[in-house]
Amino acid sequence: MQDLISKLQKKEARLGVLGLGYVGLPLAVGFAKAGFKVTGFDLDQAKVDQVNACESYIIDISNAELAETVGSGNLTATTDFSKLSDVDSVNICVPTPLGKTRDPDITYIQAAVGSIAECMHSGMLIVLESTTYPGTTEEVIMPLLEEKGFKVGEDFFLAFSPERVDPGNPTFNTINIPKVVGGVTANCTEVARNLYGQVMETVVPVSSVRVAETVKLLENTFRSVNIGLVNEIALMCSAMDIDVWEVIEGAATKPFGFMPFYPGPGLGGHCIPIDPFYLSWKAKLAGSEARFIDLAGQVNGAMPKHVIKLVTRGLNEHRKAVNGSKVLVVGVAYKSGIDDMRESPALDILEMLSERGAETSWHDPHVPSLPGGINGTRVPEMTPEVVAGFDAVVIVTTHAEVDHEMLLDKGPIVIDTRNALKGHVSKNLIKL
Ligand SMILES: NC(=O)c1ccc[n+]([C@@H]2O[C@H](COP(=O)([O-])OP(=O)(O)OC[C@H]3O[C@@H](n4cnc5c(N)ncnc54)[C@H](O)[C@@H]3O)[C@@H](O)[C@H]2O)c1
Repeated sequence: MQDLISKLQKKEARLGVLGLGYVGLPLAVGFAKAGFKVTGFDLDQAKVDQVNACESYIIDISNAELAETVGSGNLTATTDFSKLSDVDSVNICVPTPLGKTRDPDITYIQAAVGSIAECMHSGMLIVLESTTYPGTTEEVIMPLLEEKGFKVGEDFFLAFSPERVDPGNPTFNTINIPKVVGGVTANCTEVARNLYGQVMETVVPVSSVRVAETVKLLENTFRSVNIGLVNEIALMCSAMDIDVWEVIEGAATKPFGFMPFYPGPGLGGHCIPIDPFYLSWKAKLAGSEARFIDLAGQVNGAMPKHVIKLVTRGLNEHRKAVNGSKVLVVGVAYKSGIDDMRESPALDILEMLSERGAETSWHDPHVPSLPGGINGTRVPEMTPEVVAGFDAVVIVTTHAEVDHEMLLDKGPIVIDTRNALKGHVSKNLIKL
């Protein structure tokens, strides 16, 4: 153990990062910038080639950062998993989606651990960063590694550290977000603390790996439930003809005991719509109910349908049907300023509009194309003339580059799900 800690402190340890996506690439770059020799592993040859060619595909990492780290020889990427034999430490950053029945799908984690097990050697540190249910590290990963004849806490060190990165956030990044770490044994926590301590500004050790796993799920459940609450309040306000946005603004002037959350067209991204169900699945196995999680899931999951109701109402007021109307969806990424469309409510909205016979189009300055199976014509340039040709415009995600006011001037009906047109009153404007 002391050998590995000493290598980490001198930055002589060789680090591996498995999975070079939104989480793994910034982590690998962070380690490499701090002076470690880092190998990034991914199954996706295109990503590996792009990293080695210093072409970033992640918003938070610039080409210059890749040029610096790849150029100095501190970062290389590969699809050759046999090179895991050369590393002293591996961080696992692979996807953790939900399966068709909305149960956790940890097959990516199992495959990643399978690759590590093939190349396992004494004195290795393995840290899982993928969000998952409490118990995954000890119940799934540990046995896969121990069956190779190694003893956790003695021959290898195993920990969980939740990834809290917020893509596109200009203030908080992989390095300055406090890093929670929990090991399977005290030795495991200590070794992992020494890895992150070389790079992260603040490391927060917790007493167990299960606590570390649950920290992340609490954080994202907190967001999901509060967004669910405010979405329900928005529906109530809409029924009573009260402006929910003004209500929130008023409430947010309270200097204590209130934190504003905002309603919207539905949850998106790889975290908030998914992670709480990892917790509720495991809690149910332990005989515990997860009523808030289930209810928030229902309320948030119904928001895209509510948006369709608003489109229908708006068109109806103009004696039009959804069937045959030209509808433009503005903003298809799941949040402002990024290109990520995973779980984006815009995709559900486009699909439902199309099912109802609308002629769908979309505009998003960050997104070049829609995922397969979603109908919609791309509007690359949103000029007043182009906008005037639509029957309805739905603002789903705002981006700083988009002139929303122009939509109100030119679009016959505007459904604003984000309060982008704050302060405007018009018979053509329908707010969430
Ligand atoms: N995206 C976020 O904002 C965010 C924030 C916090 C936590 N997380 C969590 O981090 C984890 C990773 O998310 P992400 O957004 O980086 O996903 P991603 O899809 O952007 O990246 C995952 C990468 O892993 C690769 N991969 C899949 N299986 C592999 C394997 N067996 N070996 C090597 N590489 C493999 C994929 O090719 C992909 O490049 C998830 O558990 C997610 O919930 C994500």
